[in-house]
Amino acid sequence: MGLRSRIIDRGKQLVQSPIVMRWVSDDRVMKAAEGVLDAKTRVRLAWHMLKNGHGLPNVDPALDDSLGETVEHEGRNGSGRAEFSDEEDSHHANGSQNGNGAVATNGSGSRATGGVSRNNGSSGTAGHMSAGHVSAGHVSAGHVSGGHASGGNGAALEANMIALDADRTRRRDAGTRNGMSVREARDGMEDALKERTSLANVGGHDVFEKCYQFTAADNARRAGLYPFFRPLDFNDGPEAVIDGRRVLMFGSNNYLGLTTHPKVREAAKAAIDRFGTSMTGSRLVNGSMKLHNEFEEKLAAFFGKESALVFTTGYQVNIATCAAILSNKTSVAVVDRNVHASLYDGVRLGQSAGARLTRFKHADAESLDRALQRVETGEGALVITDGVFSAEGEIAKLDEIVPVVKKHGARLLVDDAHALGVIGPGGRGTAYHFGLEKDVDLIGGTFSKSLASIGGWLVGERKVLQYIQHFAPSFMFAASAAPPSVAAAMAAFDLMQEEPWRMDKLRENFTYMRDELRKMGFELGHTQTAVIPIYIRQDLRTLMMWRELLEEHNVYTNPFISPGVPPKSAMLRTSYMATHTREHLDRGLEALYKAGKKYGVI
Ligand SMILES: Cc1ncc(COP(=O)(O)O)c(C=O)c1O
Repeated sequence: MGLRSRIIDRGKQLVQSPIVMRWVSDDRVMKAAEGVLDAKTRVRLAWHMLKNGHGLPNVDPALDDSLGETVEHEGRNGSGRAEFSDEEDSHHANGSQNGNGAVATNGSGSRATGGVSRNNGSSGTAGHMSAGHVSAGHVSAGHVSGGHASGGNGAALEANMIALDADRTRRRDAGTRNGMSVREARDGMEDALKERTSLANVGGHDVFEKCYQFTAADNARRAGLYPFFRPLDFNDGPEAVIDGRRVLMFGSNNYLGLTTHPKVREAAKAAIDRFGTSMTGSRLVNGSMKLHNEFEEKLAAFFGKESALVFTTGYQVNIATCAAILSNKTSVAVVDRNVHASLYDGVRLGQSAGARLTRFKHADAESLDRALQRVETGEGALVITDGVFSAEGEIAKLDEIVPVVKKHGARLLVDDAHALGVIGPGGRGTAYHFGLEKDVDLIGGTFSKSLASIGGWLVGERKVLQYIQHFAPSFMFAASAAPPSVAAAMAAFDLMQEEPWRMDKLRENFTYMRDELRKMGFELGHTQTAVIPIYIRQDLRTLMMWRELLEEHNVYTNPFISPGVPPKSAMLRTSYMATHTREHLDRGLEALYKAGKKYGVI
């Protein structure tokens, strides 16, 4: 080996040493490097941001800090008034100041308004924010490269690039970076930041123009830091195969490990043999079958509710329910700010019919109380919360929420997607966990987690469900859940009850992981369930740790970065199953420990 190669190799080794990796993955260091090395770019970007506003297309309304915000549609009072009446903010803004008029007219989104007034100062981004919400993955990807263009305009990013380069030959997707120099990658990222701040404002004659200008995902791919849409070869449950490599699966919602259970597979196959692959029609007309009704009866009995409805997806449950119930200008959605995107989308549909949205502080019954106090006489409120929060793994405090809801005579919808099969007696979820099942009006969920399939469910009063059945276009005019999906979910539902050891084992596993990870020094927030977020709180560091775990330790986790989560909430979301063995968990713990140390997370 020549002297030059030896020097380069030594350089790469140095750059990859834990101390340097930790250093370069620190956003603050990157910011400092940026400050020293590229003041010009910063000034340019600052000017751009001043001129155009911070156009980051937030993916989730929860990103927006304007709690207690009330958004009304033009149809309501014609003013598009927005009130920021949260006690922390305690101020008002009118449409002309915050651009709320734009939201009122496009009906696209409440939280866009908050984002506009707080983040952008320009009304033009509202529509795009809602578009951003739809294409979460891409927008997140936008941030992957865009966000760190800001930190990556100097030596630190260069060091990262060299480090990434070092194992490039091992990477199966190396082709994506072929022929790309460090400088090109860096410049690409710089462009991506510019794109991120301006893409939201792209309008003009061709509505596709913004798509053509969106290059951030491609740039992130070329830099080897694109974490989304990665196809698996197989997913056996606790383990999966990706690019021919067996990996430990710490990123799926297959909580009871039933996706490969012989009875579940058999049920799906038998349903195909008997009924075919699809009903090719909606529940309303030709898409209903006895299988749907049979499962509805089982679900209603299990939850002790009058009635149940089976949907095609969990997302549809929330869109349909919110759209149907929040059907006019006297309806108010009072929403925990951290609820799932599907609930926000449902509320948006309600808003287009004149309903308004107000949000309360996450898991804060006092904030809810204040929000409900502001509901006017003649208005009716639907309080909306996740039962188990999908990113945080936290259980909603229904014991505090329910009395407040009752005090104000409001109605309560709980999304129990991550609670069924996980908490509550027999896996009945959050309301049962607190013994409050009679006090929660509507409980919804999905087949795509514990029930090892795809589809959704809603339980509640017969009259209310009947109304939703007849007044929710997304339910009435979408094809019904396919026979194999319903049969698989029903088989999993039966197994969940026949094999309670699965829930016990799941609890044992997630408790073990939570305790061990905490002992190692990881920050896990308030998780109480099978979802365990590992807070890293820096986007780039999160991505590098995700990549290290996958590429070096064969451990699959999910990186949640901004704008998918608020900027300071970047995390690796891990989740566990009943079918993980102690050996799996210990192997994962060792990998997490090594990666955590390497990147200075612990
Ligand atoms: C809390 C919550 N609600 C609803 C959904 C949507 O369910 P599905 O993916 O089955 O459509 C999800 C899915 O991730 C979720 O986490």
